[in-house]
Amino acid sequence: MRVVRRADGIPGPEVFELITTPMPDCPPGGVLLRVLNAGVDPAMRGWLSAEKNYATVPDGTVMRALGVGEVIESRSADWAVGMAAYGWLGWQRYAAVPAAELLWQADIAAAPPETWISIFGLNGLTAWIGLTHLARPKPGETVLVTTAAGGVGGVVGQLAAAAGLRAVGLAGGPEKVARATAQLGYAAAIDYRAPGDLAAAIADTCPDGVDVFFDNTAGQLADAIFPYLNTGARVIQCGTASVASWLPPPQGPRRERDMLVKRLTWHGFVAFDHTDLFPHALAALRELHAMGKLVSHDHVLDGLEHAPGAIRMLYRGENRGRLSIRP
Ligand SMILES: NC(=O)c1ccc[n+]([C@@H]2O[C@H](COP(=O)([O-])OP(=O)(O)OC[C@H]3O[C@@H](n4cnc5c(N)ncnc54)[C@H](OP(=O)(O)O)[C@@H]3O)[C@@H](O)[C@H]2O)c1
Repeated sequence: MRVVRRADGIPGPEVFELITTPMPDCPPGGVLLRVLNAGVDPAMRGWLSAEKNYATVPDGTVMRALGVGEVIESRSADWAVGMAAYGWLGWQRYAAVPAAELLWQADIAAAPPETWISIFGLNGLTAWIGLTHLARPKPGETVLVTTAAGGVGGVVGQLAAAAGLRAVGLAGGPEKVARATAQLGYAAAIDYRAPGDLAAAIADTCPDGVDVFFDNTAGQLADAIFPYLNTGARVIQCGTASVASWLPPPQGPRRERDMLVKRLTWHGFVAFDHTDLFPHALAALRELHAMGKLVSHDHVLDGLEHAPGAIRMLYRGENRGRLSIRP
C-alpha cells in the first residue's frame, strides 16, 4: 500500500494506492518476511499530514506500520527462516527489511500475531511504561483513562486492576463501556458520548478524585477531567486523539494554576524513548497474560484492501479493540 499524497484531515482512501510489485530480494544483513498482521495506529494521521512530524511517511513509499511477519529468507545471523518477528514491516504482504527494523521475536505458537501487535506490542508497552514507570501509582489510587476500551486503554485498565488500583474509563458508546467494566479491569466507565453532564458523571464515579489521569484524547474530555485531579496527581499525556490539528493551537482552559496549586506532574512521553525498558515491560506483560490477568482485544480486518479506510475507523471510534490488518 503506497502513500500517494498528503492527507487533508483524517487520511482516507484518496491518500493510498494499492500496487503490485515483483517479490523483493532479501537485503544483505536483513530478512524477507511474509507479513501476518499489520497495525493501524492513530499516530498515522500525523505521519500522513502536511504538518511537520517526527515520523512523516513520504509520498511514493510503502505505508509505515508495525506488524508481525514470518521470516521466509534470511541474510541476518539473528533471524532464521520460520521465526516470527515484530517490527516495522509496513502495509504490505511481503517485507524486505534490514534486521534493525525488527524489534523482537514474536512467539506465535504461544499467542496469535494480532496479540503480538497489541498487548505484546507497542500498545501494551506504552500502557506499561506510562502507568507503571511514569505514573508510579500506589495501591488504592484512582486512575482515570480516556479511550478506555482501545488498544492502549484496554491494557491500562487491566494493569491498573492487577496493581490494586481503581480504574475508571471514558469510552464512546454503551458497548465499549460494558466491555471496559466486564473485561478490561475498569471498576466503572463513563459513556462520554451519551447526553448528560459529563462533569457530574466524573464526580460520581471518582468520589475520591483522580490520582493518575492517563490521557489518550486531550481536548474537551481532558478539560472536563482536570478539575477532579487531586493534589500530587500525575497526568500521563499518551495521545491527543480528539484534536484534529494543532495549527493553529486549539484554545481551552488554562491549567498553569492547577499545575502550581495542586503540584501536578504532566508527563509527555513517546514509548520509543524508553527502549531500555522494553524487555522488562514485555516480560511483565507476558507474565500477567500467562496468569490470566491480561487479555488481548483485537479487531482484525481481513485483506490489505481494507487498509485505506482503517485510519478513519479509529477516528470514528468504530474499532472494537486493537485494530490491525491481516494482509
Ligand atoms: N505516546 C506513545 O508512545 C503512544 C504509543 C501508542 C499509542 N499512543 C496513543 O494512544 C492513543 C490510543 O491509541 P490506540 O492505538 O490504543 O487506539 P485506540 O484507542 O484503539 O483507537 C482510537 C480511539 O480513539 C477514540 N477517539 C477517536 N476520536 C476521538 C475523539 N474525537 N474524541 C475522543 N475519542 C476519540 C476512539 O475511542 P472511543 O470510541 O472510545 O471514543 C477510538 O477507538 C492514541 O492517541 C495514540 O496516538 C501513544
